Order: sequence, then structure tokens, then C-alpha cells
Amino acid sequence: FRQIKTSDDDFGLMAYDPAFTNTASCRSAITYLDGENGVLEYRGYPIEQLAEHSTYLEVAYLLIHGELPTQAQFDEFEHHITVHTFVHENVKEFVGGFRHDAHPMGMLLGSVGALSTFYPDANEIHDPENRMIQTIRLIAKMPTLAAFAYRHVMGMPYVYPDNDLKYPGNFLSMMYKMTELKYEPDPRLERALDILFILHADHEQNCSTNAVRAVGSSQVDPYSAVAAGVGALYGPLHGGANEAVLRMLKRIGSKDNIKDFMQGVKDGNERLMGFGHRVYKNFDPRATIIRKATEDVFEVTGVNPLLQIANEVAKIALEDDYFVSRKLYPNVDFYSGLIYEALGLPMDMFPVMFAIPRTSGWIAQWLEMVQDKEQKIARPRQIYTGERTRDYVALDKRS
Ligand code: ACO
Repeated sequence: FRQIKTSDDDFGLMAYDPAFTNTASCRSAITYLDGENGVLEYRGYPIEQLAEHSTYLEVAYLLIHGELPTQAQFDEFEHHITVHTFVHENVKEFVGGFRHDAHPMGMLLGSVGALSTFYPDANEIHDPENRMIQTIRLIAKMPTLAAFAYRHVMGMPYVYPDNDLKYPGNFLSMMYKMTELKYEPDPRLERALDILFILHADHEQNCSTNAVRAVGSSQVDPYSAVAAGVGALYGPLHGGANEAVLRMLKRIGSKDNIKDFMQGVKDGNERLMGFGHRVYKNFDPRATIIRKATEDVFEVTGVNPLLQIANEVAKIALEDDYFVSRKLYPNVDFYSGLIYEALGLPMDMFPVMFAIPRTSGWIAQWLEMVQDKEQKIARPRQIYTGERTRDYVALDKRS
């Protein structure tokens, strides 16, 4: 394309696509997404079937290896994850150094990046065995880092992993264990959390995955690449959206205020958070599944009164021409925050709850990228709009 020029001064043909809406940045065989028809598949398996029959760890294996594991493969994978859940004691000190009111997502960003210094062998990215060790470490340690961040904010002592428990149960234990007694997770909460983890595991080339691939394309270690993903996920238009939904629902406060609020959205004063998606233009299949999980969690925790407001807002929006004509439907974040709040999580923890499961997607995408012979360092060009060649003017000569 560079050679298609109308004159010597012509830079050549250039695609200008500032938000990459029509640019495929890579080839990938991991996640299939059809936004028009609300289809999401991991390695060809529909998200609905995985959410119903699978577990998060099995899905993580699927994303990474491309096939569902046999029982023996799964047992080995789960064993490796389980024995890698602990972090170096100095990581604890590191997390302890953050301010008491630090945002847990900022702590996660810092601590996952810091893991690269604990595992300097991680830069051997061309060694398949080494890549797999870092993959296991990342998936295993992310919940531990997340729980440490939470306990730090709450001013509570850290709880070490309990390797008798399954992946989601161990996370609940590290978060909520209050006594010396063994923490016994409620199986309904554990399953709901596992479903949330499955739904959030991957979503093709979203902002944070694109960040992981872009940074990873410099051949840096995977901890640094994943830290870039956490940074992207921190933003309110991506992983921060469920937090924004909860703040919005609390601000609406009562059903009586919904009409005025919706008018404000339509007047362009603000966005209806948890609605709309860059790719899904009919419905977000994850939102349908998560709504059901919401009911299961509320059976254990009691109903969150904000659910009534959320349901009413959704009902009005789904019948309103403003939202219908723009193809704005509830996305996964519209309901996930309600579950996290029911679990007693502060809003700052919501994006962290997204980052834990997305780690398997990030690392699967990183593995795919590292092995893609076509992949070079990500280095987009630009449409230059500034001044051209001009002479320097001394400071005392400038007016
Ligand atoms: N509320 C009100 N209006 C909206 C919303 C919304 N949530 N989302 C889009 N619109 C409107 C825009 O104002 C625009 O209207 P216009 O054509 O009259 O100017 C039109 O719909 C198209 O919007 P874009 O911003 O072009 O859509 P885009 O695909 O770039 O944005 C996004 C997608 C960022 C998700 C957007 O819908 C949004 O901001 N939603 C709220 C935040 C949110 O829920 N994010 C979570 C995304 S899912 C995830 O990360 C897991």
C-alpha cells in the first residue's frame, strides 16, 4: 500500500481507523463473536453451554489449549494451578506499602507487574515450557493478589490460599474468612462466582486484550503485558462500567426518579451505564446468563433493592425509541455489579473481579500472539496533522 502514491510527496495509502472499528489487528482462533446475532463462543463452544455445564478452570484450559481437557488433563491442570496460588512473602510487603485508601485495581496493576521481578525467567518467552509455567502462575496468583488488595483496603490481615478448596471457593475464603476456622463457601455462591468468571474469561480484541497484545508484541514478559491489560480494564468505559452502573443506580435511588433520569440520558447529559456495546448490537448473551445468576445469588444474600430499579430502567430503555434505534441493550456490566454488591464487595473491587477471570483470556491471546509467525511489534502509523519543516527561532527572537 505504501507504494501506491500519486506523487513523491504523497505518503501512500493509509487506513485511518482511530478506534479500530474496522481493523483486524490479528488472526485469532480463540473467541468468536457475532454482535448482530448475540453469539459468543470460546473455541467454538457457545457461552450458554459453557456457563451451564463447565467450570472456570476448564474454560481457562480450553482457551489456552484450544480443546476441552480429558479428566486426566484437567486434574493435572487444576493441580498445577492449585499449588501455585501462593505468592512470595515480599509481595505481601509490597501490597502492604500502598496507601490505606488505594484503589484495589491500582494495587492489582502494580502487583501483577511486580511479579515479573519475582520471576525473571519469564522473559524467556520463546521457550514453550517456560511460557506454560508463567501461564499457570498468572491464573493461580491473580485471585491471591486481588484478595490481598481487598483485605488491605478493609484493614484486615491477609488470608493465605486454602488449597483444599476449588478455584472460586479458595478466592471466597481469601476474601471473607474471619476466624481460624476453615471457611466453607456456600456452593450456590461458589457456582455463581464460577459462572461470572466463565462469562468474563475472554472477549476477543477488546481494549484490554488489545493492550496485552500490543505490549506483548514487544516481547516483554507476560506479567508486564498482563499489567497493561489491567490498566486498560481500569477505565470506566471498560472494566469500570459495572462500578459506574452501581453508582448510577444508587444516584437514581427510587423508581420515582427514573423518568427524569432517562430524560437526562436522552438529552445527552450522561450515558446509561451498562447499556450499549461496541460489538453487540442486538443483545449481549452474557447479560442474559448473568441475570439468572443474579437471582441465584440473591437467594443466598437476600434481594438487593437496586435490582428493582435496574429492572425498571431496563424495561423502559428496551421500549424507548432512543435506545432501540441506537441498538443499545444491557451489557454484562448492567447486572454484575448487583451481584458483587450482594457479595459485600466495595465498588472499587468490581473491576478487580473482572480482571481475575480475564487473565485466562489475556494469557491465551498472548500465547497465540507469541507463536504467530506473522506477528511483528505492534506499531501503527498516523495521519500527521502538524507543521512541516521550519527553522528553529532563538528564544529571545520569539514574539
Ligand atoms: N447511554 C446513552 N446513549 C448511548 C450509550 C449509553 N450507554 N451508549 C451509546 N450511546 C449513544 C451515543 O450517544 C451515540 O448516540 P448519537 O449517535 O446520537 O451520537 C450512539 O449511541 C452510538 O454511541 P457510540 O459511543 O458511537 O458507541 P460505541 O460503540 O463507541 O460505544 C460503549 C460503546 C463505549 C460501550 C458505549 O455504549 C457506552 O459508553 N456504554 C456505557 C458504558 C458501558 O456500559 N461500558 C461497558 C461496555 S461492556 C464491557 O466493557 C465489558
